[in-house]
Amino acid sequence: MQNFVFQNGTKIIFGKDTEQFTGQEAAAYGKKILLHYGGGSIKASGLYDAIVQSLREQNAEVFELGGVQPNPRVSLVREGVAICKEQGIDLILAVGGGSVIDSAKAIAAGAKYEGDVWDFFTGKAEVSGSVPIGVVLTIPAAGSETSNGTVITNEDGWYKRAMGHQSLRPQFAILNPVLTYTLPPYQTACGITDMMAHILERYFTNEKHVELTDRLCEAALRTIINNAHTVLAEPANYDARAEIMWAGTIAHNDLLSTGRIGDWGSHDIEHEISGIYDIAHGAGLAIIFPAWMKYVYKHDVNRFAQFANRVWDVEIDLNDLEKTALKGIEKLEQFFSSIGMPVRLAEANIGAEHFEEMAKKGTERGPLGNFVKLQEADLVQIFHLAK
Ligand code: NZQ
Ligand code: ZN
Repeated sequence: MQNFVFQNGTKIIFGKDTEQFTGQEAAAYGKKILLHYGGGSIKASGLYDAIVQSLREQNAEVFELGGVQPNPRVSLVREGVAICKEQGIDLILAVGGGSVIDSAKAIAAGAKYEGDVWDFFTGKAEVSGSVPIGVVLTIPAAGSETSNGTVITNEDGWYKRAMGHQSLRPQFAILNPVLTYTLPPYQTACGITDMMAHILERYFTNEKHVELTDRLCEAALRTIINNAHTVLAEPANYDARAEIMWAGTIAHNDLLSTGRIGDWGSHDIEHEISGIYDIAHGAGLAIIFPAWMKYVYKHDVNRFAQFANRVWDVEIDLNDLEKTALKGIEKLEQFFSSIGMPVRLAEANIGAEHFEEMAKKGTERGPLGNFVKLQEADLVQIFHLAK
C-alpha cells in the first residue's frame, strides 16, 4: 500500500428537504452569492425558487449566471470570473450537476487570478486560491460535489481539459435524492455509468495489498448495480435514488483511492470524444471503458478475474483465468447496454474520422493511464475496438 494523505473537508448534508438549509450554509461565507446553474431544469422543477427564497431569508444579495451547458465552456466561465471580480462575490453556489459545479470551480479559481482562466488548464499557471463554493446537487454522476477537480471545454480547438486544486473542493454539498426524481432515464444512466467508471479507474491499479479499498470498490459497484434498474423503472423510489446518490459521491471523494494509484486512461480518452462530439461523458465512458479493458486485461489477468468474480459473481475458472476475466468485461458491457447506454461508437453515431486526431490530442502531454501506459498508437487501437 502506498503512503497517502486523505483530506476531504466538504460538509455533506444528505436527505429529504435539505435544500432548505442552503441559505443558512451560504450565509457563513458572506452576503454576495453568485447563483450558478444550467439550462433550466432547476426552474422547471421549482428548485430555483426554493433556493432563491432560502438565500433571501438570510438577506443574501443574489447575482445570477445560468446557462451552463453539459461539457461546460470556458466562455461562460470567463463571464463568471468577470462578475466575481466586479462584484466581490463571497460564495459561488452551484445548483445542478457536474457541469455546473465544474464551471463554478473554474470561475472560483479564475476570480483569484490576474491572467486568463484557461492558463490553469494548459499548465501555464497553478491555482493559488479560490472563492468558496457551495453545491446543491441535482444529478449523481461526476462526483464533482466533493472532488478537487474541474473539467472545462475550450471552444477554441475543442479541447476538454481537467485541472485540480485542494481549494476547489466545495465547502458544502447538499444532496437530496428527491431532487433527482426528475432526471430523464438517459441522464440517470449516464450518471450511473460515470460513477462506476470512477470506481473502476481506481480499481485497476498495479498496487498490491490494497484489500480494504478493493473491497470497498466492489461494495460500491455492487450497490450501484443492484439499484440501477430500480431507479430507471421507478424514478421516484427514494431508497434506490438515495443509494445511487451517495454511491456517486463515495465513488469520487478519494476514499477509494487511498493507498493506491488509479488508472484514469479511460477518462482522458473519453474527454477527447466528448470534447469533439459533445456527447454525455457517461455515454462516452460506456463505450470506452469496455474497449480499454479488452485492450489491457492481459496486463493483470488475476485482477480482471477478481473483478469478474467479486462484482459479477462469475465463477473463477482456475484453468482458464483469461476466460473468467473476459466474462467480467462482457458482463460490464451487457450491464451498460441494459441501462440504455451505447457501448460502441457507432451507436453514438461516431465514425472513425477523428481517431488519429483524438489519439494525437489525447497524448500530446504524454502517455495516458497508469495501470498500462498508453501511447498515441494504443489510443487508435482502443478506438478501433470501440467501433
Ligand atoms: O442544464 P440543466 O437544464 O440543469 O440539465 C441538465 C443537463 O442537461 C440535466 N439535469 C441535471 N439535473 C437534473 C437534470 N434534468 C432533470 N432533472 C434534474 N434533477 O442533466 C444534464 C447533464 O448535466 P451535467 O451536469 O452535464 O451532468 P454530469 O453531472 O454528468 O456532469 C458531466 C460533466 O462533469 C465532468 C464531465 O466531463 C462532464 O463535463 N466530470 C467532472 C468531474 C469532476 N469535476 O470531478 C469528474 C468526472 O469524471 C467528469 O469528467
Ligand atoms: Zn467521470
